[in-house]
Amino acid sequence: MRPSSHLSLTRGLLLGLSVFSAASALVHEKREVASPNWSRLSRAHPSDKHVVRIGLTQTSLEEAHDLLMNVSDPSSSNYANFWTAEEVADKFAPSKETAREVQGWLTASGIPATRIKQTQNRGWLVFHATSKEIESLFNTTYYEYHNRQTGKKAIACDEYHIPEEIQKHVDYVHPGIRLGPSAAGAGGNSKRNAIKKRSALKAHERRKAHANHARGLNLTTCDEAITPDCIRALYKIPTSRAAAHPNNSLGVFEEGDYYAQKDLDLFFRAFSRNIPNGTHPIPAFIDGAEAPVPVENAGGESDLDFQLAYPLVHPQTITLYQTDDANWSYNTTGFLNTFLDALDGSYCTYCAYGECGNDPSLDPIYPDTDPDGYDGKLMCGAFKPTNVISVSYGMQEYDLPESYQQRQCMEYLKLGLQGVSVLFASGDDGVAGPPGDATTNGCLANGTVFSPAFPNSCPYITNVGATKVYPGYTVHDPESAVYDPAGLSSYASGGGFSNIYPIPDYQADAVAKYFKDHKPKYPYYEGGKNIGKNGGLYNRLGRGYPDVAANGDNIAVFTNGEFDLSGGTSASTPIFASILNRIIDERLAAGKGPLGFVNPVLYKNPSVLNDITNGTNPGCGTEGFSTAPGWDPATGLGTPNYPKMLKMWLDLP
Ligand SMILES: *[C@@H]1O[C@H](CO)[C@@H](O)[C@H](O)[C@H]1NC(C)=O
Ligand SMILES: *[C@@H]1O[C@H](CO)[C@@H](O)[C@H](O)[C@H]1NC(C)=O
Ligand SMILES: *[C@@H]1O[C@H](CO)[C@@H](O)[C@H](O)[C@H]1NC(C)=O
Ligand SMILES: *[C@@H]1O[C@H](CO)[C@@H](O)[C@H](O)[C@H]1NC(C)=O
Ligand SMILES: *[C@@H]1O[C@H](CO)[C@@H](O)[C@H](O)[C@H]1NC(C)=O
Ligand SMILES: *[C@@H]1O[C@H](CO)[C@@H](O)[C@H](O)[C@H]1NC(C)=O
Ligand SMILES: *[C@@H]1O[C@H](CO)[C@@H](O)[C@H](O)[C@H]1NC(C)=O
Ligand SMILES: *[C@@H]1O[C@H](CO)[C@@H](O)[C@H](O)[C@H]1NC(C)=O
Ligand SMILES: *[C@@H]1O[C@H](CO)[C@@H](O)[C@H](O)[C@H]1NC(C)=O
Ligand SMILES: *[C@@H]1O[C@H](CO)[C@@H](O)[C@H](O)[C@H]1NC(C)=O
Repeated sequence: MRPSSHLSLTRGLLLGLSVFSAASALVHEKREVASPNWSRLSRAHPSDKHVVRIGLTQTSLEEAHDLLMNVSDPSSSNYANFWTAEEVADKFAPSKETAREVQGWLTASGIPATRIKQTQNRGWLVFHATSKEIESLFNTTYYEYHNRQTGKKAIACDEYHIPEEIQKHVDYVHPGIRLGPSAAGAGGNSKRNAIKKRSALKAHERRKAHANHARGLNLTTCDEAITPDCIRALYKIPTSRAAAHPNNSLGVFEEGDYYAQKDLDLFFRAFSRNIPNGTHPIPAFIDGAEAPVPVENAGGESDLDFQLAYPLVHPQTITLYQTDDANWSYNTTGFLNTFLDALDGSYCTYCAYGECGNDPSLDPIYPDTDPDGYDGKLMCGAFKPTNVISVSYGMQEYDLPESYQQRQCMEYLKLGLQGVSVLFASGDDGVAGPPGDATTNGCLANGTVFSPAFPNSCPYITNVGATKVYPGYTVHDPESAVYDPAGLSSYASGGGFSNIYPIPDYQADAVAKYFKDHKPKYPYYEGGKNIGKNGGLYNRLGRGYPDVAANGDNIAVFTNGEFDLSGGTSASTPIFASILNRIIDERLAAGKGPLGFVNPVLYKNPSVLNDITNGTNPGCGTEGFSTAPGWDPATGLGTPNYPKMLKMWLDLP
């Protein structure tokens, strides 16, 4: 898709010329606003040489959604007929025709073919040319610019032209109208927040005082502490199961937080004696990451994720995707790109939405010469993605440029095409972001507008919100949306509506029904460009989340060698991911394949989930959104009913 700065002006007159002529050239990009801190110096010297890069368009971006639905929608004859990684990389590289057309125009315009090279990922045509040559090629004038703040120099023009028949093949050119890193000024916010764990930690700290001892917990105490037995009872997960398939390890992502073997062993001994002492995840360590750590340095997030997942998936294995070296992990402004690079080598250099590869102003840079740094090359395509990936970390849409988020969202779509199910924790702050993200209360505009989470609002992932067994209730009663006002900041199931992505088709009916039957009492605005307009608190036209939910409060864990209670949508996500992993083992035993992107199936079959109808997800000084019969933006479609989900997926191809 083209960046918004593209202008499609009134069509130029086509004079029927067989060669490309400047007469048929249209403005391709034009600078709308001055670039702050860059001052224009003199005109570029005619004989100065430049490296010219022409970004080729990937027409498949527009088809991508339909391609994913073709293999994810249960009514498609092609359901679960997933693509290979190579087929996906090929499909999203610019077509041969695109490269040939642009090359033809360049040579017809006097750039010798011998000078033009196509990059390996096929995304760019690159050549050396003088200012004079490119001024003529693009019918424009180039100037030198100087950045007052950084001292950097660059050349750029105010607008440039490309023949009408070539325009559709070109994303953008460099040098062109852009100055500095592409992300800057593309929607990023200066006040960024790097909080990423869907934090078990806050709950962990404040609950220490109330902690029960592990002994004495049983199915009657699930309203005090959630053990593996409570989870199995809540979601009717049997202990009998198909054999663990060798190619169905459960993928778990961690960053800047590390498990301790001793904590896992203590937990297995207390709650899952069938799991042998010393059982540990298979390492898939990315860009210098290391694990485990000594028990005193263990992280609440990693310990929680493994202690929830192992009892549900054992004897299936778990693969740990631990990302980034000690210097970068958890400290970068960007997030998840180095992980996705490691799963898909083509993503390292993939261009979309005007961004190619990692953003040097946001993402880690490898090799890292820091003493703690990983001095190898950025890992590209080092690991095959597992069938299910559980991620209990996130940020807010507000924190990152829109183009950065959209490019990454496409990558989740591509994983779905390959049959990978990607699950994210929906956030622990209800309709808000974490305190201090955007405003002190984590909300947008003047602190009243709800803050959608990243990458949760991407329509190609499955978001897991959190539920709770309130005191006095049992595993046989319906659960409620989690809400805990105590502690440093209140904890509520993350949910709401995107300011970036519109409502996807698979969700349209569910969202419409919610607005019709359970109209929220707050005013809304329409479209992400109108944040807060008319006093609106949320985008009525945005993708809603979460999609599903699972228990996420008072979880029994061992961390730093001690029994404790933890919580967060961080907990809900590995529970839901483990259930999908179990279902895939059953499907593989029946000669079927993995599940891929599960949302289209779940929205068409909401009865395989336990609808949650009690509770809300407060934030921004409001009650948040109410749960309701059917989908709602606090608990999605509801919590898993394992036997029903299994039957449905065994009946599907
Ligand atoms: C080049 O662009 C200018 C506007 O910048 C336009 O007036 C002129 O007609 C163009 N020349 C050709 C040959 O297309
Ligand atoms: C411009 O420079 C000032 C400091 O001189 C800085 O505060 C500001 O963030 C810069 N603006 C951009 C868009 O980089
Ligand atoms: C899915 O793709 C296949 C193969 O390209 C095509 O034959 C089929 O018509 C598509 N189905 C739908 C529902 O779009
Ligand atoms: C379950 O735990 C409770 C509280 O510790 C205890 O009173 C009860 O006897 C236990 N029940 C069983 C079946 O162990
Ligand atoms: C597991 O995957 C590998 C490579 O992807 C394949 O060669 C092997 O046959 C698979 N094993 C089973 C049991 O399907
Ligand atoms: C980066 O994060 C780690 C925690 O993962 C922290 O210990 C370290 O001090 C941070 N480094 C910097 C430079 O902020
Ligand atoms: C579990 O393994 C650890 C490390 O090998 C060992 O120190 C510990 O004693 C073992 N615990 C049990 C209960 O076997
Ligand atoms: C270490 O990380 C920080 C960001 O947390 C970064 O500024 C610094 O450049 C890194 N060190 C090296 C040598 O890359
Ligand atoms: C700011 O806050 C007031 C209420 O305190 C509200 O009326 C107004 O619409 C809010 N939103 C924006 C974007 O200013
Ligand atoms: C419903 O949720 C509220 C919190 O929003 C909680 O206090 C109450 O106990 C819940 N009711 C049931 C039946 O779980």
